[in-house]
Amino acid sequence: MDRQEAIEFLLDHYENPRHNHVVEQPDVSLSGGNPGCADVITMQARFGQDGKLEDIGWEGEGCTISRAAASYVTELVEGLTPDEIEALSFEDLMDQLGRELVMTRPTCATLALGTLKKGVHEYHMRERAKE
Ligand code: FES
Ligand code: FES
Repeated sequence: MDRQEAIEFLLDHYENPRHNHVVEQPDVSLSGGNPGCADVITMQARFGQDGKLEDIGWEGEGCTISRAAASYVTELVEGLTPDEIEALSFEDLMDQLGRELVMTRPTCATLALGTLKKGVHEYHMRERAKE
């Protein structure tokens, strides 16, 4: 992706956010904020009987990069298991979003994924405790 394509990619996610909705009966519902601003993004997820992601949603306030990243992350995790979500890398995400564009705002770019990973980890721990 060249710089122009990366800008268009981010703006498309910002202007047409994917999965910007509330999830019914979520297994995961966690809000995360950035220390440097007042923005808060809530990530929600529900897993199906097969252990794969069944529904994902996000809501909240954030800058262009954090909102675009939240939208992209919800596409990235479609159909994944908790283990697979927990294994997603922040470095890969930065590359996929266009490192050149987001490297000055890493906390914004990784807010949604970090919040989702934390929520999924907590869900995973709760499920394991039941076994
Ligand atoms: Fe500082 Fe977003 S937290 S720019
Ligand atoms: Fe707050 Fe980017 S400035 S999330």
